[in-house]
Amino acid sequence: MNRLRWLPFFIPVFSCSADQSLSELKTSREARYLLQSPDNLPSEFWQEMDDPSRGVDFLLQRQLGWNFWSRMLRLLPGQGSQAFMSWQTWYSREDLQRAFRHLYEQLGVSGRRERRPFTLSEIQSAMLWNDRLQFQEPDWNTERFDEWLATFDTEEKQRSIPGMQKILFNQEVMWFLLQNYHRLEICQKQRQRQEDCEPLAWPERAVFLKTSWRRSEQGFLVERFATDAAALSRQWQNTQWQADDSHEPAAAESFALRLPSGQKFHLTGLHASLRLEQHWFWTSLWLGAEERQELSADQPANWRSPWTRYRLCSVDGWQEPLRTQTIATHWPEPIAAISHLLVDHELFNWCSNPYLEPGPNNHKTNCTGCHQYAGLNWTQHDFRQRLTDDFWSLIHRSTQPGPADYVWSLFVGPEPLIQPLMDAIEFFDVYDPYQLRQE
Ligand code: HEC
Repeated sequence: MNRLRWLPFFIPVFSCSADQSLSELKTSREARYLLQSPDNLPSEFWQEMDDPSRGVDFLLQRQLGWNFWSRMLRLLPGQGSQAFMSWQTWYSREDLQRAFRHLYEQLGVSGRRERRPFTLSEIQSAMLWNDRLQFQEPDWNTERFDEWLATFDTEEKQRSIPGMQKILFNQEVMWFLLQNYHRLEICQKQRQRQEDCEPLAWPERAVFLKTSWRRSEQGFLVERFATDAAALSRQWQNTQWQADDSHEPAAAESFALRLPSGQKFHLTGLHASLRLEQHWFWTSLWLGAEERQELSADQPANWRSPWTRYRLCSVDGWQEPLRTQTIATHWPEPIAAISHLLVDHELFNWCSNPYLEPGPNNHKTNCTGCHQYAGLNWTQHDFRQRLTDDFWSLIHRSTQPGPADYVWSLFVGPEPLIQPLMDAIEFFDVYDPYQLRQE
């Protein structure tokens, strides 16, 4: 795909890469050595998600969002002295690229020609190889690893070891991508008419994350958005999210890291989509100014700085709890005020992150409405046009959803997940016949 097509719409989200060497943003092989396998969400977590009141109780829906992020922010002991948060250990596109190439190479010429599916045990070993075994192979160079590690010479730099990729995912997603590579290849080849692609269904417990980072220092500042009821009401009179001001966040005011090259970045937003039995659950965090205010007022008491400044919204598929639920007097005051505002504006399942939803009207959207079209061949121009001219269709259920089961980054964006699969497939499609001719 032509990357340039994506620049204007995605630049606000992806602005960290504007002057960034792409290799620093990725989970390198060295980082995977330290991270080992991605941390899994335990079954107790999924049992809690199964609460039958989820769709009708706004506070519970938010609580489940907080539960998820509490899990994601857990510090795990790494290899050696580094500790990373659960979400930092998740797979990225580079892991997919390595695991897929490893499997596809092993299929051999005839397996590749037939597009033979990988067996379960082949996939299991490829993931084990990616997470652990490749580091026992002769091409793993411990000296080079030590040199690489030595470049992270402060605590702030060590936080950047896992990289700053935009899209991360759990093991269920990796399984699905590897198991379905040929179906995905067919969909990709029908790119011009993706409505012809046989609809996909992601497995339950598949989870995706999307991150947003903002650079500071050396002429860069981080924008700030108030999101209390009064501020939101003002924002919705504007055409799109507008920052109140921008500043240099102090040490404990954000989760910040420094790349070995010296540039400082702040984590300003985190999105998640979780595949449940019937639909997707969406939740998002973004950086706010004061601790435990606004949409952080119902945050679990055990959260610590800087996370106490992060706000949350969540939506449960198309459920609209605020349409029927009474906003009770015992609700935390800021949450009650925002709930009344949402009802007044008839935004019954609103959820929008000021750092991640740029563009006209995107401050009034709800995650699920835009994601229902995932898999359609939309360009950034199409997104903008929809947001501007047909915003209604982006917040209501469509009779013509896209084929990718709500996952956009599979085929769309500056770095679609399908690309590493297609790169390996296309390489061998050229290389295999050539190799046969040589024999
Ligand atoms: C106007 C459309 C739109 C809205 C609204 C939207 N997204 Fe997305 N989202 C996208 C696109 C396009 C991508 C993939 C491209 C990229 O960003 O690289 C994406 C990617 C994602 C991903 C990575 C997995 C995937 O589906 O590709 C997650 C997780 C995600 N969004 C969550 C959310 C959440 C949570 C919300 C609501 C707070 C939301 N999104 C609102 C368009 C949207």
